[in-house]
Amino acid sequence: MLPMVDLTAQYQVLKEELNEAVLHTLANGQFILGPNVEDFEKEVAAYLGAQYAISVASGTDALHLALIAAGIKAGDEVITSPFTFIATAEAICYVGAHPVFVDIDEKTFNLDTNQIEAVITPATRAILPVHLFGQGANMERLQVIADQHELLIIEDCAQSFGAEINGKKTGTLGFTGCFSFFPSKNLGCYGDGGLITTSSEEIAEHLRVLRNHGSSKRYHHTELGFNSRLDELQAVILRVKLKYIDQFNQARNQIAQQYTQTLINLPHCIPPYKEAGNTHVYHQYTLLSAYRDEIMKAFTEQHIASAIYYPIPLHQQIVFKQKYQDVHFPVSEQIAKQCLSLPIFPEMSKPQIEQVLNVVQGVLLGK
Ligand SMILES: Cc1ncc(COP(=O)(O)O)c(C=O)c1O
Repeated sequence: MLPMVDLTAQYQVLKEELNEAVLHTLANGQFILGPNVEDFEKEVAAYLGAQYAISVASGTDALHLALIAAGIKAGDEVITSPFTFIATAEAICYVGAHPVFVDIDEKTFNLDTNQIEAVITPATRAILPVHLFGQGANMERLQVIADQHELLIIEDCAQSFGAEINGKKTGTLGFTGCFSFFPSKNLGCYGDGGLITTSSEEIAEHLRVLRNHGSSKRYHHTELGFNSRLDELQAVILRVKLKYIDQFNQARNQIAQQYTQTLINLPHCIPPYKEAGNTHVYHQYTLLSAYRDEIMKAFTEQHIASAIYYPIPLHQQIVFKQKYQDVHFPVSEQIAKQCLSLPIFPEMSKPQIEQVLNVVQGVLLGK
């Protein structure tokens, strides 16, 4: 079986370094908020070009805590995409705010910035763009809108670690950047993990308090907080992997280019679009085809994984259906019917890439 992501292949490549780092941490006996967490936060901040980086227990927590730190509260509105993972909207709901969806751009699958101003109301406090599949949203335009309407931008960078927009890393352009280190992410640990970046010392300090039971001094609690800490074992794994992230992302890029070279010439197939000025880190390689279901069936028959990210836009999910009964986002709904993500991971071999392409060719060439 060819999987979407082969985490064991990456472990084999980094085995010695990872084993040594983990064993060293086990022998050290310090597991929560220890030296590896501190060093990882410094190293990741330097890599991203962020002033402060605060690690937390997951990408979902990163969004949740970032929204609290931004002062978003019950009754506020936050503009976001309906074509994303549920966590983006969940976090908005956790603080009692309302996700206000805006349709996506049909090429990049990121927020359609032309539709944002129409939904801004006196209750709007923030825009939460998702840098979907590893490509940055149109931050330049979003910043102009945010400045004009005094809104904050909270970036969902769960899928875009290392991606750049005009030479700056995603996560360093908004008020805060929220990352996930879920194992299959471009920079993934071996459990759950997340991170928030910010250029504000005050917000960074607030986030450190929030992640640790509302306390900056042991057993002194100044507000209600959370148990949301990255642990030392995950931090040490991430410190090893961070050294190779550019290499990993370059490998993903090369695979994406090989895919595109073939797919661009096929009928009924639209390979991913890359905006000028962006680097794309291809967390997912997602094509569009009217024959999506047929291609997927052929993959299954050939024991190759493929996935639909996302089959149901958020406004049509059962959990939100009541709230968005009469709302439609035609681009998101159409793309949900045609999108298909192919296997992509840095260690993928040339024969594996060819195997994938053969299946797509086999289905589409006859159409
Ligand atoms: C766009 C997006 N936002 C948020 C998250 C949540 O991250 P985590 O799974 O680490 O909580 C994910 C990850 O799956 C994601 O893809």
